[in-house]
Amino acid sequence: MQTEVIKCDKDIDKEGIARAAELLRDGKLVVIPTETVYGLAANALDAKAVATIFEAKGRPQDNPLIVHVASPDWLSRYVPEIPDNAKKLMDAFWPGPLTIILKKASIIPDIVSAGLDTAGFRCPSHPVAHAIIEAAGVPLAAPSANLSGSPSPTQLSHVLQDLDGRVSAVVDGGPCGVGVESTVITLCGGRPRILRPGGVTPEQLRAVLGEVDVDHAVTHKIAPGERVASPGMKYKHYAPKAHVTIVDGSLEDTVAFINARAGEGVAALCFEGEESRFNVPCVTYGGKDDDLSQAQALFDALRELDRIGAKTVYARCPSTEGVGLAVYNRLLRAAGFEITPAAGNSWGRLD
Ligand code: TXA
Ligand code: MG
Repeated sequence: MQTEVIKCDKDIDKEGIARAAELLRDGKLVVIPTETVYGLAANALDAKAVATIFEAKGRPQDNPLIVHVASPDWLSRYVPEIPDNAKKLMDAFWPGPLTIILKKASIIPDIVSAGLDTAGFRCPSHPVAHAIIEAAGVPLAAPSANLSGSPSPTQLSHVLQDLDGRVSAVVDGGPCGVGVESTVITLCGGRPRILRPGGVTPEQLRAVLGEVDVDHAVTHKIAPGERVASPGMKYKHYAPKAHVTIVDGSLEDTVAFINARAGEGVAALCFEGEESRFNVPCVTYGGKDDDLSQAQALFDALRELDRIGAKTVYARCPSTEGVGLAVYNRLLRAAGFEITPAAGNSWGRLD
């Protein structure tokens, strides 16, 4: 299939929006920009169209999709009831990078929720995403627009690398602002719980809801056979081809650790301005004390490591404050949870 690229990165291009909406209403796949990452979208009410999402990205059938709505007032069409906590979250964070898991209404096909009786709902703040959903007039099911297992796409080139020829169109909205996916929070059962950290931080959620748990799987590897609240947590994710290990410790200790392991195919994933300290090729992901810039840069950096042919990557460990928890979670998964102290006693991130 020929993939059409629709430019929409300056002003909202009305023709481009109308074209994308027409394709979506017609049951086709269209990649759309959002404020977090690019999404591989189809009409969420059309089970056949949704099935092609799983095919195009090679996604396991038991991993449910997020339903994207144009505005908060659409939600009542797709859920039997909106709990008070959901209303509070919507008022505080929608439109924006927060996905809320709620009981779904039967109008949402089972394939969207992978057979669960709940679904994730999100109202994106990206003006192009908003305009496309509004023009399509239907909610859009959209996972991140990468091949299953690879880093999520934050710019057009990433999308084309993975999905050129597999989707009808890609809407180019320029680079994504947040750079990591939305925070996923469940309000189904017990205390509100973060299943995936993202653009909205635990601190921000607690300011609105009071106590909020962070699921164990955010920072710990799932044991084989262990039950997970969010099926996406089971799968290997965000992985470049290289073997990645996170090195936890001060800059000095990390430099010593990595430089002692220099050799063919070894590279460092470090913070801006640190490159000259390492005697191996470096790729950077944001500033050391700047969680937002780290989030924005991480997925491109993981792809860049493949481009430079890295085989073994040692990564600087981010702080888990703010959006840093999302950065840390993605990096942990890219590393298959392999993390090592740079020096004898420099642990401290895992709990
Ligand atoms: O920022 C984002 O959320 C992006 C953009 C495109 O909106 N989308 C995204 O979708 O990251 P995806 O499919 O790559 O990740 C959705 C995550 C998965 O880990 C999935 O398992 C979880 O949300 N999820 C979806 N529905 C769920 C449900 N009903 N219960 C538990 N987890 C769910
Ligand atoms: Mg994804």
